[in-house]
Order: sequence, then structure tokens, then C-alpha cells
Amino acid sequence: MSEKIYAAPAEFVTRANVSGMENYRALWQQAADRPEEFWGELAEKELDWFEKFSHVFEWDPPFAKWFAGGKINVSHNCLDRHLTTARKNKVAILWEGEPGDQRMISYQELHRLVCRFANVLKSLGLQTGDRAIVYMPMIPELPVAMLACARLGVTFSVVFGGFSAEALQARIQDLGAKVVITADGGWRRAKEVRLKPAVDEALSDCPTVQHVVVVKRTGSEIAMQPGRDLWWHDLDTNVSDDCPAVPLDSEHPLFVLYTSGTTGKPKGILHTTAGYLLGNHMTMKWVFDIKEEDTYWCSADIGWVTGHSYIVFGPLSVGTTTVMYEGSPDTPAYDRWWRMIEKYRINVLYTSPTAIRALIRQGDKWPESHDLSSLRLLGSVGEPINPAAWEWYHRVIGKGRCPIVDTWWQTETGCIMIAPMPGAVPQKPGSATLPMPGVIPDIIDLEGQPVGDDREGFLIIRRPWPSISRTLWGDPKRYAEQYWQRAPGVYFTGDAARRDSDGYYWVLGRVDDVMNVSGHRLSTMEVESALVRHPAVAEAAVVGKPHEITGQAVCAFVTLKQGDWNHEELGRELRQWVAEKIGAFARPEEIRFSDGLPKTRSGKIMRRLLREIVTSHTVTGDVTTLEDMNVVTKLAAQHDED
Ligand code: PRX
Repeated sequence: MSEKIYAAPAEFVTRANVSGMENYRALWQQAADRPEEFWGELAEKELDWFEKFSHVFEWDPPFAKWFAGGKINVSHNCLDRHLTTARKNKVAILWEGEPGDQRMISYQELHRLVCRFANVLKSLGLQTGDRAIVYMPMIPELPVAMLACARLGVTFSVVFGGFSAEALQARIQDLGAKVVITADGGWRRAKEVRLKPAVDEALSDCPTVQHVVVVKRTGSEIAMQPGRDLWWHDLDTNVSDDCPAVPLDSEHPLFVLYTSGTTGKPKGILHTTAGYLLGNHMTMKWVFDIKEEDTYWCSADIGWVTGHSYIVFGPLSVGTTTVMYEGSPDTPAYDRWWRMIEKYRINVLYTSPTAIRALIRQGDKWPESHDLSSLRLLGSVGEPINPAAWEWYHRVIGKGRCPIVDTWWQTETGCIMIAPMPGAVPQKPGSATLPMPGVIPDIIDLEGQPVGDDREGFLIIRRPWPSISRTLWGDPKRYAEQYWQRAPGVYFTGDAARRDSDGYYWVLGRVDDVMNVSGHRLSTMEVESALVRHPAVAEAAVVGKPHEITGQAVCAFVTLKQGDWNHEELGRELRQWVAEKIGAFARPEEIRFSDGLPKTRSGKIMRRLLREIVTSHTVTGDVTTLEDMNVVTKLAAQHDED
């Protein structure tokens, strides 16, 4: 790990929203000492309320409530409140499609589009409390749909466009959605990613869905089921521009985002209204140091939490210009991003270590052929960033001038938890540095005892914060078990970490059966349950193996049923099978066939040993509970032959 420390240049510090370590420490201490006063004051000052809350915080462990008694609306806070200011004709969403088409939508225009689409939803019979699924490419209609739902109090779930029909169906069923909002397709790597056919397949068994609203993006041939399927542009012809935002309870369910847990079934992480909004609003100011004149770009997909919080809700709540790009970074060439930064004079760039490593591989000539001098701040999210990638990002993209905010957080946390305030906290490459105000992390051992500095352990958070996920959709028991019982009364993150003697946090990765592929969370069990549904597969065990670009890659160990199988062909088929069952991003990089899997005497697969085999190619850990050592010896030897 690098011991180098990088402080922001003096001109950055002078203008920063929070300048100097002392100011950061004072803010953090204030939130730790008097949390209710701290959050209560911010909620009142930073958000627009229809009715003020009566209680800042209520805690019936493990279920938290923030700002109870208040009436508020996220869409109103992201749009309406800016219309009486100089922001009304400022660009809210600066969008570029992969083919090169552009849209610059002002706050006033976005407000109009959102009101119109909210009226469309109303005309389809949707009301506060109903649910919608959003399955769309990265086009402006996606945030419009989210904000329109939020305006009415329709709880939505965005399903990443890379998910398969089957994964989409499971989410529609779990949420009990009345409407699916989608498009014919979108553009990625100059090819069409078709979406509507997947919706048609998913809807074969979704009785709650009454309508499908379809945006025409690519113009390709799709089937439209009369009565059920409706074109967005047709519905939009006859609606009013006026749709008042519904005053909603602070704890009204805003959205559900499905994420991989430690079982085969995805869990629906629920976020509610006021606390989620406040967390995002404040971290935009604290971490991204947003200024009125900034053009800000988060390159994530809105299908993941980063896109929800830091393309849509956080940026619009603070009234910045948020850039949105539809396609891939290598289309038409590897300088697409650098070209966009130069063209739009982008000031803040927020991306993932996987993207950085992929761009490093293409060589410095791509960024060096563009003027990147508008950049003033860089960010990273989704996985640990290795110091070499950090240094490259700092030197080649930031030209040594731009602080880097390495932001640690999760779908469950709703907003950034550990990250430097760039004008206050010097950075160490590879460390997410120090916690946000109101966040009290610690590192504990298996018995729940703090391990102290410089020791590895489990990362936990001691107290609830406003944007914490409230529960799992329809499964409060699982919420309590997964997050609050490993160490009673504290939030268990599922990550391993270390804190150094400066108090800096170094997040090391997951401690559970969750892989992190390109910053996308994927459970080993989800891939395993897809594999064992294939007629040839008897058993499957999946582990993440280290990967130079994507951080981890999926490696599956498979035993087969009796039969005469061609391993090469079947390997290809199984990889494709997983892509069809879950989505292309889950496709295993490697399938290894074997006669047996290492198991405990009680029959539990010992993934830990498989992890060791793919990581270090040997097994050194404890094997006393292993039933048959031969299996492991064979698997390790098989690797040596490869
Ligand atoms: O393991 C941590 C890793 O990503 C997990 C959360 O994944 P997800 O819910 O999909 O959200 C990703 C975007 C917020 C965490 O448990 N992770 C996320 N950010 C970092 C990270 N690991 C190290 N450093 C980070 N900055």
C-alpha cells in the first residue's frame, strides 16, 4: 500500500465547500455529539418541506425513521424549487447518445417533461403507493420516469438494462408492479441492446402489470400488444404541463433497488423519501464540492445505485448540470470520454476503478490528445482502487491538480459514507479516507470487539444515518438478520477493512459470498442457482477470481450428471446459459469441470478452498473439516495443467 499523501492544491482549498482538516473534524464531531440537532438543522435549511417534521429520529432497532411527521416530495426538491431561481434555464441534464445525438434539458424543461409524464401515469390509473418497473437505456426519459413516479409517490424500481428477461420477471413479480416503462432498445458499442422483447418474455407470467409504456429510441421492429402496450410519444400528446407534486410522508417508499445478497434470490433494498434525499444532497456538497458553475459527470449506469444517487437525485437536488451518456467508452474510439470532457468543459468526473483500468490499458495517447484542463475533481466508486490506477488517474487525467475522492458506500447505505472532503482531507491512494458527518464506523472481530488500528476486521457502522435502507421489500426479517444480527445493534456492511493510525479506512473487499465484477455486485449463489438449472449440471460452486481489469471475474466449478459431455462445447453453453438467466455481466469467465467439489462432512461446499485455488493456486488454510482431501488435490493439480 502506498504511503504517499496527496493534499489538494491551495487554490482548490480556498474555494472548497469545506476547507481544512479542522473544519472537517468540527463538522464530524458536531454530528457525532448531537446527531438530531445536526440533521434536523440541515433538513430544514437544505430541503424544501410542505410540512415540517415533528421528530428528527426514531429508532425501533433495527428499523429507523427520519423526519417523521414531515411532508415532502423528492421531485419537487429536484425541480420546482429551482424554478424561482437563476437556475430555471440552466441545463439540468446534458445528454449525449452513443451515435452522437445531444439533448440539453433545462430545469424548466425537465420540470415540464416530468409533469407531463406524471400526468400520463395518472391517466393509466397509477396512484400514490402503486409500483412501477423502469427498464430503460441511458436516455433522458429514464430520469424523467423516475422523477414522475417520485412526484406521485409511485414506488419505482429501475432494473439495469443488462439484466435478462428472467431476472426482470422476478423483479416485476416481487414488486407487484402495475406498469413497466421501457424502450424499444438502446445503443451500446454501435449495436442495439434490445429491451422490449425481454419485457414481452418477462410478462408471460406477471399478472399485476396492466400497461407497458414504450419509448421509441432505436426505431427497430418490436411487437406492441394492443391494449397493454402504449407508445410514450402517443400518450404525451394529450396531457397537461401542470402536475403538482404530492406532499408525501418523509418515510414514503421512494424506490426499491434489487441487489445480490448471499442467497440465490435478489433482495429489494428499500429507500424512503426525506432521509435518502438529504444524504445525497449533503454528499454532493461535501464530497463533490459542487459549485453553481460546475458541469458534473457520473459515468455509472442509472440501473445501479450510483446512478440513482449521483446522476439523478443528488445532482438535481443541488441544482447542478448532470451529464448523462448512453453508450460505451470505446465507441467510436477509446477517447470518447476525453472528447466529451473537452467538448462540454466538464469539471467533475466520477467513475469506477474498472473503467480506469480499462482505459489505462489503451495507453496515454487517448487522454493526451484532448484538453482536459476543465477538470478540477475526480471520483472513484464501486470497488477498492489499486494505488497504481489511482496514481495514473491523478497524473494523466487530473494532471496532478485534481483531488481524487475515493468513495466507499453501498446500495444499502443510499449515499457516500467514507470519502475525503477534497478541500479538507488529504488523500492516500487506495484509501477511502475518513467518514462523513453522522457516520461512525469501526472495525470489529468475530466476537464483535473493536480490533484497534492497523488490524483487519469487519467494517461496521455504529448508528443509523438518514439515508440508510429502511428494510428489504416484503422481508423485514431478512433485513434484520443480514445487517443487524452479526454484531447485535450495529450495521454490518459485509466488507473487510483496516483503519490506519491516522484514522483512515482501507476497504479490502467482501467477506461474504458476494463477488464484485466491474464494480457490480453479484452473489455466488445467484450464479450457482442458474447453473444447476441446466440439465447437464449436478452441482456448481462459484467464486470470484482476481482479474486485472474488472477486479474480480466469475469462476464456476461444475460437476456433471452422467453422460458423454464435450467439455469445451458445454463450457461455452453454460457461460451463455448464465448470461441468459441473469444478464451478460454475470457470464462466467471460466468454467472448470471436476468430479467432485470440496465439502465439509456435513455436505457444505467449502468455497473458501476454491477461492484459495483460484487466487493462490494452492490450499494452505484449515482443511480439518474437509471430507475428501483428494478432491482439493485434484482441483489444484488441474489448475497447474491449465
Ligand atoms: O465491497 C464494497 C464495494 O462495493 C460494495 C457495494 O456494492 P453496491 O451495493 O453494488 O454499491 C456499489 C456502489 C456504491 C461494498 O460493500 N465498494 C464500493 N465502493 C467502494 C467499495 N470497495 C472499496 N472502495 C470503494 N470506494
